Amino acid sequence: MQITELTGPATALKLAEVAEPEASHMLTPGSGVIVDVRAAGVSFPELLQTRGEYQLKPPLPFVPGSEVAGVVREAPEDAAVKPGDRVAAFCMLGGFAEVAVAPAYFCFKLSDEFDFAQGASLVLNYHTAYFALKLRGRLKEGETVLVHGAAGGVGTASLQVARGLGAKTIAVVSNESKERVDREAGADEVVRSDGAWKDEAKELSGGGVDVVLDPVGGDRFTDSLRSLREGGRLVVVGFAGGSIPEVRVNRLLLNNTEVVGAGWGAYVLAKPERTVEIGAAVQELIDAGFVSPVVGASYLLERAADALIALDERGATGKVVLEIA
Ligand SMILES: NC(=O)c1ccc[n+]([C@@H]2O[C@H](COP(=O)([O-])OP(=O)(O)OC[C@H]3O[C@@H](n4cnc5c(N)ncnc54)[C@H](OP(=O)(O)O)[C@@H]3O)[C@@H](O)[C@H]2O)c1
Repeated sequence: MQITELTGPATALKLAEVAEPEASHMLTPGSGVIVDVRAAGVSFPELLQTRGEYQLKPPLPFVPGSEVAGVVREAPEDAAVKPGDRVAAFCMLGGFAEVAVAPAYFCFKLSDEFDFAQGASLVLNYHTAYFALKLRGRLKEGETVLVHGAAGGVGTASLQVARGLGAKTIAVVSNESKERVDREAGADEVVRSDGAWKDEAKELSGGGVDVVLDPVGGDRFTDSLRSLREGGRLVVVGFAGGSIPEVRVNRLLLNNTEVVGAGWGAYVLAKPERTVEIGAAVQELIDAGFVSPVVGASYLLERAADALIALDERGATGKVVLEIA
């Protein structure tokens, strides 16, 4: 499935027959793991790419798709995965296809209890959640985290990772069906973005939360800062709501709080060893039973446009995936 023009999700994509990729990835030229794809994750980068609004802008036409799950066809000798292994892999591009290639360090053996759709939900969101909460937000056991956009891909992953790190979670969502998704995903408390969520969060946390994880942005930012306790950290993860908030830094001074950026891709792409460490930490959370990706919707590859439109219209819950028949 290629992006052939930058006209948005409804019209940008076309199904095409193209040559299979070689065992070489742009991050590891001359080396790569070839994966027979069974499911491909659908995320904001692909949506933005249909409009030419993502930082990675390959020449047209190109196959989008940043992560997949499938079976290894070919792997370098020194890779941690081998032919025949079920894997979750981050390929950056090329995932909306029958065959994709990923750097060896971005391939992770898929636990038996997960199906391929869950495998295609594991790298981008869970690595981001761990990176944002633990490495950037310095989340500690016993602390309380407020998660915006909590029924989305990053949101559901963050609820599970936070619980695994011993934190209490407060999910913020916009409607009742998303509320149900988060209760099933293991949120301790769920509050509504159209209600008095800041006051409720302060009350539920006994005076203020320790960390806010924000993949949404927009005008709720100031109230997020107000919901922090002294020493609290607001971790900026994304702007799904569209607008980029500005912060009056006197608020940080008055309440001794921090705003911290968490750009997972920018951080790990040049540091394979950190990706291996984050992968091991996420696997520990899987083994301990805290992580189980929520797949909200699954479409056939041919219907990739509908999957992207669902994301665009705020209709997605958990992870959206494409199935490769
Ligand atoms: N920093 C990083 O390294 C990193 C990594 C991965 C993703 N991201 C970013 O994180 C953001 C969330 O990604 P995601 O995959 O979790 O997306 P998602 O599954 O679509 O979830 C986003 C959530 O944001 C809320 N939202 C509020 N206004 C929205 C709007 N106008 N359109 C769409 N959603 C809106 C929705 O929740 P409610 O309806 O409940 O409000 C939705 O569930 C994106 O901006 C993405 O680019 C950043």
